Amino acid sequence: MATPELRHMLRDDDLNHDEQKQVLELAIKFRANRFYKQPFAGPQAVAVLFDKPSTRTRSSFSIGVAELGGYPLVIDKSGSQLGRGEPVADTARVLDRMAYGVVWRTFGQDRVEEMAKYSTHPVVNALTDDFHPCQILADFQTIAEHRGGVDNLHNQTIAYLGDAANNMANSYLLGGAVAGMDVRVAGPQGFLPRPDIVEDAKRIAAETGGSITVTTDAKAAADGADCVFTDTWVSMGEEAEYAIRSKPFWDYQVNDELMALAKPDAIFQHCLPAYRGKEVTSSVIDGPQSVVWDEAENRLHAQKALLTWLTGKARGDDSLLA
Ligand code: CP
Repeated sequence: MATPELRHMLRDDDLNHDEQKQVLELAIKFRANRFYKQPFAGPQAVAVLFDKPSTRTRSSFSIGVAELGGYPLVIDKSGSQLGRGEPVADTARVLDRMAYGVVWRTFGQDRVEEMAKYSTHPVVNALTDDFHPCQILADFQTIAEHRGGVDNLHNQTIAYLGDAANNMANSYLLGGAVAGMDVRVAGPQGFLPRPDIVEDAKRIAAETGGSITVTTDAKAAADGADCVFTDTWVSMGEEAEYAIRSKPFWDYQVNDELMALAKPDAIFQHCLPAYRGKEVTSSVIDGPQSVVWDEAENRLHAQKALLTWLTGKARGDDSLLA
């Protein structure tokens, strides 16, 4: 078989509509059978790098790579030369000689792009300041499992409320557009997504049959939604400014009143960690409409599916998707 085209996952639109569906179908298979495929049997190593803290991403990639038959080489910023300023290009070329892929949580999007530029193996964005595409795959897997499968995703209206200028908002815009969803993103003035990301999402939505709405009206965004999302109002590194940062966001809190505007069977998701009483009330996140623990578990399955797909071992070989 020909060598598969090298693919990376740096932002949500690195997968097209059909490819996103393939990954999500594969993720559902991995949830049913944790050892469904082992593309890193050997074990082949995958470098999993963290420049920021993590619980879910660290555990899901560490366990996930191992369950795929591989060896997760987990390196923290404090324990690597990257943390002391070694160029990304040099790090990339060294890791590329040893590992079969790189997963990286870091700051600027340019850093994962630079890593990919010098890699001959897949590079995966495990969260940057701009995007969190692995989270979106897990979230959409969760919707599919609760709402009639992957083929029904394009019928879903999703609403994200809160800091609409953060990486989660950006990823819902792009990922939702790829899925063909009706995507609504609501946040206060000054905390809305970058115009270029909104334009990209609208262009993709025009091709997939989805739609993109960016608004400051939280109630309009939630009205009739199938799934409501939020995220912390204070991103990593901003915790000291919580009181000041949170002020503009109170109208966007996901509480019972807000959830009552969504469809009666709407589900609630939060990428976690959550701040109860801030962006979401405990009545919602710990209530009957919340699927946050399925969502967190699906990080494992969705990322295993993504890594498998990126290796090329689920592309051009239908037996891997059977
Ligand atoms: N949602 C998420 O990425 O969680 P962690 O920061 O714990 O990895």
